[in-house]
Amino acid sequence: MPVSSAANEASGGDTEGGIVGQYADGISAAWPPAWGEGRTGPSLPQRNAAGKAIRRGLRGSFCRGAPHGRRWKEATFPRRVRDEKVGRMEAIVFEEYGGPEVLRLTTADEPHAGPGQVRLRVRAAGVNPLDHKIRGGAMREVFPTEFPAILGSEASGVVDEVGEGVTGLAAGDEVFGFMETGAYAAYALASVVARKPGELGWDEAAALPVAGETADRVLNQLAVKNGETLLLHGAAGAVGSAAVQLAVARGVTVIGTASPGNHDYLRALGAIPVAYGDGLTDRVRAVAPKGVDAVFDAAGKGALPASIELRGGTPDRIVTIADPTAAEYGVAFSRGGDRDASALAGYARPVAEGGLRVPVARSFPLADAAAAHAESEAGHVRGKLVLLP
Ligand SMILES: NC(=O)c1ccc[n+]([C@@H]2O[C@H](COP(=O)([O-])OP(=O)(O)OC[C@H]3O[C@@H](n4cnc5c(N)ncnc54)[C@H](OP(=O)(O)O)[C@@H]3O)[C@@H](O)[C@H]2O)c1
Repeated sequence: MPVSSAANEASGGDTEGGIVGQYADGISAAWPPAWGEGRTGPSLPQRNAAGKAIRRGLRGSFCRGAPHGRRWKEATFPRRVRDEKVGRMEAIVFEEYGGPEVLRLTTADEPHAGPGQVRLRVRAAGVNPLDHKIRGGAMREVFPTEFPAILGSEASGVVDEVGEGVTGLAAGDEVFGFMETGAYAAYALASVVARKPGELGWDEAAALPVAGETADRVLNQLAVKNGETLLLHGAAGAVGSAAVQLAVARGVTVIGTASPGNHDYLRALGAIPVAYGDGLTDRVRAVAPKGVDAVFDAAGKGALPASIELRGGTPDRIVTIADPTAAEYGVAFSRGGDRDASALAGYARPVAEGGLRVPVARSFPLADAAAAHAESEAGHVRGKLVLLP
């Protein structure tokens, strides 16, 4: 029986707090398919577009604008794949919503590269808060999971199958990017990847896609520029760490919230740390007497009223990626954007050349996915947790 992937979240739908259309955790792809009939996924034209994008040198993303909810059509399903004997692979599968304990190491059908796709032998998979939100059922209203399912939306690995229409990539290439089937597995499919530089570890590369894309997108939405001051909630997390680096590189003064244990870390990244919690506005005013020009909420822990106050009473230039109460305050909620291979390649450049690094807080063997989820759910990860299949 094929196993569906709960790895990606389609654009246009929220899940946290049930605000439809406001949440996507960095993923704009269609609810991803597992190879088999009756799965949802991109249409054939979209997959053909993916092939063209990869032929153009991996600059495009077939995910751009792809609606979710389309069913795979038997007629468009590649016969080569349909007829192929399906092998089995190790994967973390869950068959019901629940706590971390529902994640089980077992075997699942191997996916095979379709048009415009490559298959990766996964070497490292990023663990995102989205994953435990899906696992726990918090997203079931908008994205009901088809069980059994595999989580994981970003990974690094070695290309071992190249789909029709893909040029410029071959078996053996080391890449990282956004996965279209669950990355908590030995194999996963992707159509937006970039080459992994040799100096970047597998775990470091797997930590980049979601955090980099999200941070980049929100800083662009806020249009922060040289000389401005940004208040960043959740600055020590994966998205926050990426956002500090990208904002500082723009010449922005970043005031980052974190618990005191992370303040030296934030200073090292170039931010001015302040503790979150009661008295936040006074602490921010103490370091930014002229106020803040923009607010990026990467924590989603109730800091929107204080943020509006610090913006002089307006929700203008405040963006959250995680607070389900955003609409109540007139604050913009940013959801998954375009997946772009050239942007991925940019994040992976050496730091001295404008690249960024998301620290790997801890790596777990694939079998310990439940422990990784428990740690992620506790909410105090510095950087990214990674699974090593
Ligand atoms: N909409 C989107 O496109 C999108 C994309 C990616 C992620 N997200 C969401 O954005 C959130 C952050 O993602 P992530 O991967 O960066 O998570 P993460 O790495 O798990 O974030 C953990 C960080 O949150 C900090 N934190 C905990 N409570 C806080 C508080 N009250 N105020 C400020 N910081 C606090 C912790 O710092 P301390 O240890 O110092 O407490 C820790 O460093 C998640 O909810 C995720 O689902 C949304």
